[in-house]
Amino acid sequence: MDTTNILNSIKNISEVINIKENKDEVIKHSRDWRGRINNNALCVVFPKSNNDVSKLLKFANSNNLKVIPQGGNTSLVAGSSPTENEKEILINLKKMDKIIEIDNFNKCAVVEAGVIVDNLSDELNKIGKHFPVEMASTGSSQVGGIISTNAGGINVLRYGSVRQNILGLEVVTANGEILNLGSKVVKDNTGYNLKDLFCGSEGTLGIITKAILKIYPKPKDHIHFIMSFNSINNVLKTFEKINNDYSGYIEGFEFIPHLSFELCIKHKLIGRNFFNKNYPYYALVKIAVNEGKDIILENFQNKMMSNDNLFEDLIIAQNIQESNNFWQFREKLTEAQKLDGKLLGFDISIPLDHLDSFFEKSKSLINDIVPGVKFHTFGHLGDSNIHYNLIQPDNFNGNFFDCENDIKKIINPLLKKYHGSISAEHGIGILKKDDFYETKSKEEILIMKKIKSLFDPKNILNNKKIFD
Ligand code: LAC
Ligand code: ZN
Repeated sequence: MDTTNILNSIKNISEVINIKENKDEVIKHSRDWRGRINNNALCVVFPKSNNDVSKLLKFANSNNLKVIPQGGNTSLVAGSSPTENEKEILINLKKMDKIIEIDNFNKCAVVEAGVIVDNLSDELNKIGKHFPVEMASTGSSQVGGIISTNAGGINVLRYGSVRQNILGLEVVTANGEILNLGSKVVKDNTGYNLKDLFCGSEGTLGIITKAILKIYPKPKDHIHFIMSFNSINNVLKTFEKINNDYSGYIEGFEFIPHLSFELCIKHKLIGRNFFNKNYPYYALVKIAVNEGKDIILENFQNKMMSNDNLFEDLIIAQNIQESNNFWQFREKLTEAQKLDGKLLGFDISIPLDHLDSFFEKSKSLINDIVPGVKFHTFGHLGDSNIHYNLIQPDNFNGNFFDCENDIKKIINPLLKKYHGSISAEHGIGILKKDDFYETKSKEEILIMKKIKSLFDPKNILNNKKIFD
């Protein structure tokens, strides 16, 4: 089928913009957040209903056309960018943005996949409820996107990743069939859990069009604080202690190196360090409080003070403005490093007892390859997940991305040795395929490929993501 016929057929189903008529708009949807992919889609389609998605997939499947499902296009592994030039059809769900129902009694929200996560949060906030997935991109990421990537964020310690927060999904398969998986009930042990399989499948098995999400009462209050440290070991010991003492209430424990302050100050994202002195490491922590905040706060301070010098300094937010300042700083770290220069990102997780030796070994070996590389290693330490990011040194000669393979040769074997993961929360997409092949067993990959061919025998869905 030629391009004109393809576009005409799609026009009969949904609103579409194509590369010939509106190149800039197609490019905007085709580029990945990290700026690593330069292919353009043939067109971007905006379906308005599950029936539109079904018709689009039936058409694509019968004509062997590749489609790329897309939400807010915030993937950090190029999970929704084209892999060939001007051939693939991007299906963006943003027009399917209805919050269908907020069901207080069954503690869930029924939403279309194109709902922007922050819009759902705003609606829930009005009635004292919340959906616990919070991260820097939720102003643009869509519900379908965070489900298909099983996103994490800053509240995983208490609420789990997205997978732990979905009760049901509506999914359109490659041949256009609409599946309803799960429902409002929490317990349902009936055969294989297909909804959990679609979550995290990165749009390679079907297109998520609707979801039933768990919602929670908003905690009445929080204690937000930032601590400073002289060693990673002390950060780890402090985490262990706070995690034990406030088990079930600690929502996030974020690790922040001093470079984060330097970058945010240099690029004018914040004015100054929260502390009057610089320390090598910091931890930003959030604990939920339902009743008796004053007593809990006093106990907390007493406990912290009796902590035989594990930490150097502690600032507890005294009001919402201060806690917002802490968390807005945290949310700006990805932007700050992007402003600073070329970046190689590794979204690792590792059992915490090996974190210190992983840092020590990998940093020294990587520094031999790229002297002066900036280690911007921050993230969700409470979930054993660190964004191990490397920023090109100032005055670097050559193409920093050319060092990627040599650096992977250091990081991947160490992760394998310590039984960690090469992608804790960002998925595989295009950018992590090599690492995926290198660190997963052949048997596991074979099973995944069989599942893929069962759901998508013609391989039309998100071609060359996760697998080749
Ligand atoms: C964060 C993104 C990078 O944690 O996952 O800020
Ligand atoms: Zn993260």
